Amino acid sequence: MAIPPLTPELLRAFPLFESLDKADLERLLERHLASALGEDQLLVQESDWGETLFLIRAGLAKVRCFSPDGEEVVLCLLGPGDVFGEMALLDEKPRSADVLSLTQLNLVKFSGALFRQLMLSRAPLSLAIAQLQSKRLRELNRRFAIHSADASTRLLNALAQLACLSESGANVLSLFPALGQRELAAIAGLSRETTSRTLSKLRERGYLEETAAGMRLLSEEPLKRRCLL
Ligand code: CMP
Repeated sequence: MAIPPLTPELLRAFPLFESLDKADLERLLERHLASALGEDQLLVQESDWGETLFLIRAGLAKVRCFSPDGEEVVLCLLGPGDVFGEMALLDEKPRSADVLSLTQLNLVKFSGALFRQLMLSRAPLSLAIAQLQSKRLRELNRRFAIHSADASTRLLNALAQLACLSESGANVLSLFPALGQRELAAIAGLSRETTSRTLSKLRERGYLEETAAGMRLLSEEPLKRRCLL
């Protein structure tokens, strides 16, 4: 993934940073670190102490924890433009969850201490972080509600989310990386067997296509019917 080096102008294009002036953006960039990572890499580990804020420039990641009986619970998917690692900076507690790459990833790391300093003196930045937390709580509420829906609804919701996150401006019918069935099952909160059966059903009904380039939903109709749009 060839992406240009981060400049103040490029950084300001991400909603969290849009209120910062050039001098603040330059201060953040002075101490940033850009890295390219492969899939299935642990980026943040639950319970670790951390002083870094992360920004995804390209690729997909998941936020997960484990239930008391050891089952993986996917809390959220992240894509280009998403920030993570802000919670430990805000409450000065250990990391609240694991974050792992689902695909190849271009990641930027910022100094958490500097970000906290900026938040103390720049009210619009603090408001932007509060809005991010609010957006995440809304998404989690929605995910919670969908958790009691049938398998097709849960899987369609997971596939639509992957499509929307895959590139900026992407929609539910966009091409997205073909993840393995085990991964899709974890994201949808289903067993692997149910995921495999439901994928076949979606394919047979002409709602899903899988090619060498990736996966794609072919119709909005099943999403609309389930109020997923
Ligand atoms: P932090 O606790 O520092 O490290 C793990 C990160 O995962 C956390 O910050 C958030 O950025 C992110 N995270 C944790 N829970 C959620 C959630 N429910 N939705 C979105 N992101 C989350």
